[in-house]
Amino acid sequence: MQTWRVDAPGQTLVLASDGGVPSALYWGAALPAEQDLSQIGLIAARDVTGGMIDRLPDVSLCPEVGQGFQGQAGLVAYRDGQPLYPRFKLIEADGMRFACRDEVLGLTISFEFSIEGDVVAARTTLESEAEISVHHLAAPVMPGPQYGEEILDFSGRWIGEFQMERAPWRAGIHMREARGGRSGHEHPPIAYFPARGAQNTAGIVYAMHYGWSGGHVMYVEELPDGRRQIQFGHATGTRASGQVFETAKLYFSFSESGLNGCATAFQRHLRDQVVTWPHPERPRPVHYNCWEAVYFDHDVEVLKDIAERAAKLGAERFVLDDGWFGKRDDDTSSLGDWNIDPRKWPAGLTPIIEHVKTLGMVFGLWFEPEMVNRNSDLARAHPDWILGPVDQVEGRQQRVLDVSNSEVRDYLYDKIAAVLSAHDIDYIKWDHNRLLPVADAAQAEGVYALMGRLRADFPGVEIESCASGGGRIDAGILEHTQRVWLSDSNDALERLRIQHDAALMLPMAITGSHVGPRHCHTSGRVHDIRFRAWVAAQRHMGFEMDPRELTEDEAAVLSQVTAWWKSNRDWRRTADILRLDVADPSVIAEQQLSQDKQRFVVFTGKASTGTQIMPRPLRLTGLEPDATYEIELINRDEAHPLSRREMPLKDGPVNLSGQLLMQHGLILPWSFPDWMWVIEGKKK
Ligand code: GLA
Repeated sequence: MQTWRVDAPGQTLVLASDGGVPSALYWGAALPAEQDLSQIGLIAARDVTGGMIDRLPDVSLCPEVGQGFQGQAGLVAYRDGQPLYPRFKLIEADGMRFACRDEVLGLTISFEFSIEGDVVAARTTLESEAEISVHHLAAPVMPGPQYGEEILDFSGRWIGEFQMERAPWRAGIHMREARGGRSGHEHPPIAYFPARGAQNTAGIVYAMHYGWSGGHVMYVEELPDGRRQIQFGHATGTRASGQVFETAKLYFSFSESGLNGCATAFQRHLRDQVVTWPHPERPRPVHYNCWEAVYFDHDVEVLKDIAERAAKLGAERFVLDDGWFGKRDDDTSSLGDWNIDPRKWPAGLTPIIEHVKTLGMVFGLWFEPEMVNRNSDLARAHPDWILGPVDQVEGRQQRVLDVSNSEVRDYLYDKIAAVLSAHDIDYIKWDHNRLLPVADAAQAEGVYALMGRLRADFPGVEIESCASGGGRIDAGILEHTQRVWLSDSNDALERLRIQHDAALMLPMAITGSHVGPRHCHTSGRVHDIRFRAWVAAQRHMGFEMDPRELTEDEAAVLSQVTAWWKSNRDWRRTADILRLDVADPSVIAEQQLSQDKQRFVVFTGKASTGTQIMPRPLRLTGLEPDATYEIELINRDEAHPLSRREMPLKDGPVNLSGQLLMQHGLILPWSFPDWMWVIEGKKK
């Protein structure tokens, strides 16, 4: 048996082959350099009894039906209508790339591994001498942990993204698929596999993330003999026939420090390895977005006034959302007609852009390039560019352009490039508000190509990925974009939870979060400005309300929190978001710890009324037990008069050891629900 090891910080994969497709015989904590790999077969050898089969194949990087694998195969393909059952032989291996060949069928499959920061990246490529159709091709398949009991993945919906789901490992397949042609609200392409007893801050955890924006499938399977496997690939049946097929990259993370170990590996990976920043040195600018202020009702004088107020509050980027093009007075028309509407903008966009610039802000603009309304000049001129049947059910009154067609891409490129060339535009909010009529991988590839071309020609422009909020968030889209609009919910209470769970993947610098209107447009709730402002301040901060509605007190609070955000944004940009394990289920708390571990900020959100009278202590994490930290409740002035107890934290900073903070925890003043305490800590 031949063996190889793939080492990333904190994790090792050991691959082994006895002449066929290699298997990961070990995936876990970094092995010592002197580990004799030839002995690894010993821990893998498993006896079988029962007479039906004498030797079970290991879960290989592509489990093969042709080798007697009876679970979900890693490749399901057909040629001339006949299923293919390859039996691959290893023909090349250098430790990071493994090529296997089936001579009879004329198929070559290769598996490529690379190290990207703290994660291992892996991709499968299949080449065929003759045309085949591929129903399913898995990225390199990993055995599932034998001592895990749970699969932790996500569901979600519009204004309710990243809802954590826990399912038991059990006989059969746990399958999740995003079939809408986007990575999707319904199952962001990420899953965690905690070992028994793992929490946010402790325990062994495995995690995977599939970097693809066109919809994906995940199979988590336990076979009758106890073998477990985890597969990710493009959504089934979304590829056209051909000869070369690639999966997206699948990212592996392993942690001995709970879910947080994998979460921070993914956060850092997206921020430092995947995203390319047009202005890496520039601090993340505070946003103002006018959508929930004016919707389609654009009036230059009103927007200038709003821009002035936003700048006064601290905004540094002004984003003109939907409604500036075609004759777009509502969502029934004009997508595709990317010409400035002279009715609303008689002198074009230059006056608002110049105005925004004199206020010291940069300018951003909304597009939804892949979409078209039937009521548009584009749809009238090119009905043939539209995907799906004529009598399809529409989504948000719109249809989808076939972006796999290079003519369509050229049209969109020309339109967007014309606007970017003629104006000083710093940022695009790139939206995608409906599902595809039929999910198709070529569409996502077309989008990447279009974004890639625009990025190459306008390298200074940042792009935000939005898809009815957080419907397209994955490492594939983040190769071309720098920010995600996590949710259309600006309800601070909902957002607190969504942000917390999305931190299992997303770092602060990439995650947009805006202070919404007092009376929330998506939930009807009314929240105090303090709560709204602090929740937005957890991530890349912005405002998305009509600033004319703000009272003096609200404006003062917002300016103050924004100023705090600005003075802390640089170290927080590269901080880890650590989800805290809370004793009080009404609390959602996180600790953002600087890279050098010298300082941190804790956000403690009270999401509902507690079951008990007293607040329970909140334990911190990732500190040096013997070090002393200066702890300050920075918004202590906001304490409610009903919180009666005298507490040192209410009066000013206190000094506590890391051990105390991590073992006993902090006791914070009592508060109403929909409230946030913000605590700063500095190592002395
Ligand atoms: C989507 C986005 C919103 C806004 C509207 C504009 O719903 O998620 O933020 O841009 O489109 O139509």
